[in-house]
Amino acid sequence: MRKRGVKVEWNEYNDTSMTAHKGRPPYRLAYCTRQEAERAEALPPEIRARFSAEELSQLKSLPPRRLRDRLAGRLAAKRALAEHFAEEEGWIAEPRELEIFNDDAGRPFLRLPPGAMAAAPSFSITHCAEGGAAAVGGAGRRVGVDLETVVARPAEVIAFVSAPIENRSAGPDSPEAQARLWTAKEAALKLLGLGLGADARAVRPEAEDVTFTGLPAEIWRELGSPRVRLAYEQVQGAMLAVVFTGD
Ligand SMILES: CC(C)(COP(=O)(O)OP(=O)(O)OC[C@H]1O[C@@H](n2cnc3c(N)ncnc32)[C@H](O)[C@@H]1OP(=O)(O)O)[C@@H](O)C(=O)NCCC(=O)NCCS
Repeated sequence: MRKRGVKVEWNEYNDTSMTAHKGRPPYRLAYCTRQEAERAEALPPEIRARFSAEELSQLKSLPPRRLRDRLAGRLAAKRALAEHFAEEEGWIAEPRELEIFNDDAGRPFLRLPPGAMAAAPSFSITHCAEGGAAAVGGAGRRVGVDLETVVARPAEVIAFVSAPIENRSAGPDSPEAQARLWTAKEAALKLLGLGLGADARAVRPEAEDVTFTGLPAEIWRELGSPRVRLAYEQVQGAMLAVVFTGD
């Protein structure tokens, strides 16, 4: 188990270094490095073995850059999901049994084999130049995750997705603050299942919690107005935000 306060290595699971959550966090994380995703791009036998025929057929239709991103996210998600089922349900699932597809809005969903003795948990996928990551929620919890390279962004870009008070604390001289703001908003939108049409200004990450206005608030109320919490990891040159429901 990784020690607190230490930057995480890729492929580690669980625990968080920069989270306000005490003890074991109520979600599971897994990663796939860019190098691993690049090696996987040629779909060698050990990678093909982790995907079903239908998944492989979809992967083969993607252009190279999209394929690498997709693989980074899928490999991370299958790791996190397999770990979840092994530890929470006592089910040792083969990665190819954990089929992941996207619905019409782009949301990932899990298809389990007929007769599987487990229910699909909430999970979320992200990828950036540094690689891919996935989060799986504990029982009854929703999750959203986002990973972004820590790099200075123009003030106008931040202003487009944030309220004036948020802009002031996330200027181009604070790329880490920008990355925290951006990833928290994206992760929260994913938790709600919202994509391109969503207004990121309606998502307000605070120190430990996320609040909503507008359409995101309507979706949040439909979910029963759960507490929505926030944690960060620094992973090599990237910032990862996990947003999750419940106390
Ligand atoms: C959907 C969205 C949140 C994805 O974020 P992204 O940074 O572009 O890409 P990421 O790599 O982090 O995430 C991509 C993954 O999100 C997941 N995803 C896509 N649409 C989703 C949705 N509606 N709900 C939940 N997850 C979604 C998919 O699993 C996708 O990976 P896959 O296609 O390989 O399966 C984003 O594209 C978007 O629409 N944002 C709009 C909000 C905005 O303005 N953000 C600006 C910064 S705050």
